Amino acid sequence: AFTIRIAHTGAIIPVNPGQSAVAALAAHGIELPVSCEQGVCGTCLTRIVDGIPDHRDSYLTDDEREANAVFLPCCSRAKSECLVIDI
Ligand code: FES
Repeated sequence: AFTIRIAHTGAIIPVNPGQSAVAALAAHGIELPVSCEQGVCGTCLTRIVDGIPDHRDSYLTDDEREANAVFLPCCSRAKSECLVIDI
């Protein structure tokens, strides 16, 4: 499990094991645009302000993966305890 913090509001959203970040945000009334929900299309691309994502998509390039500035919250998770996102 990890938490997501919304940079501009400070809201903290827990993401349970087996729950996607998109689903956790939706449960708190924050709807991100999604399409494939399998890490393929890039629709849910989200900027990361702080924290290390655990990339599980097949959309980002290797350079983008290493930069850790964006992630795909429909499928990816976090290696750090908290991911701060800019939405
Ligand atoms: Fe397609 Fe997330 S919805 S990559």
